[in-house]
Amino acid sequence: LYGTQNIVNNQLHIGGVSARELAATYGTPLYIMDEEEMRSRARLFGENFTHEKIETEVIYASKAFMTKAMAKLIGEEGLSVDVVSGGELFTALSVGFPAEKIFFHGNNKSLEELFYAVSSGVGTIILDNEDEAERLSRILKENTKHQKVMLRVNPGIEAHTHEYISTTKNDSKFGLSIFSEDTKDLISSLDRNPLLDFQGIHCHIGSQIFEEESYFKAVEEMMGYVASLKEKGIGIRALNLGGGFGVSYEEKDAPMAYRSFLKNLLEHAAGIAEQAGLLPLKLLIEPGRAIVANAGTTLYEVGGTKTTYGGKKYVFVDGSMADHIRTVLYDAAYTACLADRMEDPLEEVYTVTGKACESGDILVREAHLPVPEKGNLLAVLSTGAYHYSMASNYNRLRKPPVIFVRNGKSKVVVARETYEDLVRNDRMEEY
Ligand code: LLP
Repeated sequence: LYGTQNIVNNQLHIGGVSARELAATYGTPLYIMDEEEMRSRARLFGENFTHEKIETEVIYASKAFMTKAMAKLIGEEGLSVDVVSGGELFTALSVGFPAEKIFFHGNNKSLEELFYAVSSGVGTIILDNEDEAERLSRILKENTKHQKVMLRVNPGIEAHTHEYISTTKNDSKFGLSIFSEDTKDLISSLDRNPLLDFQGIHCHIGSQIFEEESYFKAVEEMMGYVASLKEKGIGIRALNLGGGFGVSYEEKDAPMAYRSFLKNLLEHAAGIAEQAGLLPLKLLIEPGRAIVANAGTTLYEVGGTKTTYGGKKYVFVDGSMADHIRTVLYDAAYTACLADRMEDPLEEVYTVTGKACESGDILVREAHLPVPEKGNLLAVLSTGAYHYSMASNYNRLRKPPVIFVRNGKSKVVVARETYEDLVRNDRMEEY
């Protein structure tokens, strides 16, 4: 169990509220977010990624989980925010998130999105390639504006992670290789461009990373690159190391101890920077999953079970891959439990499947459970990151609501979709 989760009278409680009560109040399927856990994770990063010799900034990667309430929470905890689309930017701005603390990412930002960012005063735009730099310069020229920018580069480090989410190979669609001369030429032109305030470089070596070593290597590679740019007369003021800090989904997962890791990473970076004469240099990180994953629980109702002719045991729940895509997409593993029978002995191994018309509709491949009965509540743990944000309407299933819980209270932060919502943009026009 994570955060404020505990067991009282055989029942799973989160934030002091029982899963049974949440299901009775809001229905199932249901995304439950433990507010205290998200806040304390945000604080853990904010308070430990600090160093006396180096200026630092922690940016929440909102792709992991973004709603108006989340943007407000992140603002209250003093973190900055990373957005990758006009939609995420709109969500942040709509609750008054300070524009100067927003970082705009993405590999193909449209002219419209760039204009939106510039005109709303977004602090930093992280450029991904030359085309974007041109697009942005055009907008700045027409609007006589000045914009802080960084460039995303690839230090060629492959972190040990699932293939689909390792993003820093040299043939990645993101960023430009530090081994290419063209990249240096682009940096030099960004640095000279009077419309741009060129801050520095960014890298992101992957996601769900457990090896501290990968980050130490990235720091060394990136510092070496900063030094080589300095030799060419290009001063780098900021180095953004991205996110990717792993979390545990199963008991066997061993994420790094964030506190000491963050301190050691900064110490290592400061040492190199000082020795190579690269200070002052600001360091930034962008955790997403590490802040929200363990805070999330998805709650389902059991509809029944089935044992196949081959002996495989299924438990059917009222959700699906539409609200839980990571198992089939990344072969991700999860821990499930019966939220209203927490202390009953675990009897069988079940595959948790949902309602979607697809054999890949698997939520949990191996769930150790008491024999589930119709009407039991099944909870899948650690679903706070990349679940609500990756949910779809496949089969015209309605997206579950998102509930925040804290100190024995609960509140809706996203309402359950209605059938009307599903057809809202449908049109019945004639040709
Ligand atoms: N910064 C940048 C530039 C990124 O591309 C990402 C994630 C992050 C920060 C945050 O990474 P985190 O700390 O959350 O690992 N949908 C996949 C993950 C895709 C991550 C993409 N970039 C999943 O569900 O595992």
